[in-house]
Amino acid sequence: MAGHLAVKELRLIYSSEGQADVHAFGPVSFSVAPGEFVSIVGPSGCGKSSLLECVSGLMRPSSGEVYLDGQLIVDQVHPDVGMVFQQDASFPWLTVADNIAFGLRYGRDHVPAKKIRFLVEEALEQVGLTEFANHYPSQLSGGMRQRVSMARTLVMRPQLLLLDEPFASLDLQTRLLMGEELLQLWRQSGASVLLITHSLEEAVMLSDRVLVMSARPGLLRHELVTGWSRDRHTDITTHPDFSAHVNALWAVLRDEAITAMRTQA
Ligand SMILES: Nc1ncnc2c1ncn2[C@@H]1O[C@H](COP(=O)(O)OP(=O)(O)O)[C@@H](O)[C@H]1O
Ligand SMILES: [Mg+2]
Repeated sequence: MAGHLAVKELRLIYSSEGQADVHAFGPVSFSVAPGEFVSIVGPSGCGKSSLLECVSGLMRPSSGEVYLDGQLIVDQVHPDVGMVFQQDASFPWLTVADNIAFGLRYGRDHVPAKKIRFLVEEALEQVGLTEFANHYPSQLSGGMRQRVSMARTLVMRPQLLLLDEPFASLDLQTRLLMGEELLQLWRQSGASVLLITHSLEEAVMLSDRVLVMSARPGLLRHELVTGWSRDRHTDITTHPDFSAHVNALWAVLRDEAITAMRTQA
């Protein structure tokens, strides 16, 4: 099975002329097994987004390596990697269907138009937007727009999904529903997931494993294995282990969040 991510001694220091260096994170080492769902939580500013950008290949780390299925990722996003960001990344001038088709039409491989139509219809159905295929993003709610971003990524059949706080701008109910959808898409696709979130509840609810990052420079402080079954839903929040897991994460994160608050202007 593909989608095995290995991160080795990864570290990033931002340097720009005339300014003090900012040690964003690391060194950190971790892996995500094929089909595994791993989340990273950490205080704001600890280097989570920087870490994910280095993992994706969008940014070059100061040291360390990232491997996907044994292949080194350097300076470009691997075709088997899909990304979803916090901010809605759909093109406002394209319809929902054209947004989803974009990567297939203009990507590395030539995909026949008929196949694109089929894949787009399938993706629309998966994220429940079939009736909105011809709408423009501005005509949709925030949650629906985030589903467009998700469909756009999934249609490329990634082996590894990288998500940076994809639900952060949504209200709580929408977040829960999106979490449920993400779990369903994760099960269907068989892809591995690395999710960044500042919500401990979200991390525990969705993940097989949660990694806790320290205040900047972000280091991995703690690892929690949830032990959930693969066919979990949002009602896992009523499981007797759920609050114990959230409390265990908070016990580690609390001190880090205080440190982060004191050291940030
Ligand atoms: N381009 C940059 N140049 C210098 N510092 C940066 C740059 N981007 C982010 N930072 C700093 O790096 C640290 C980590 O940022 P980020 O990865 O966005 O954290 P998080 O996602 O955990 O909130 C922050 O202190 C931020 O101000
Ligand atoms: Mg961030």
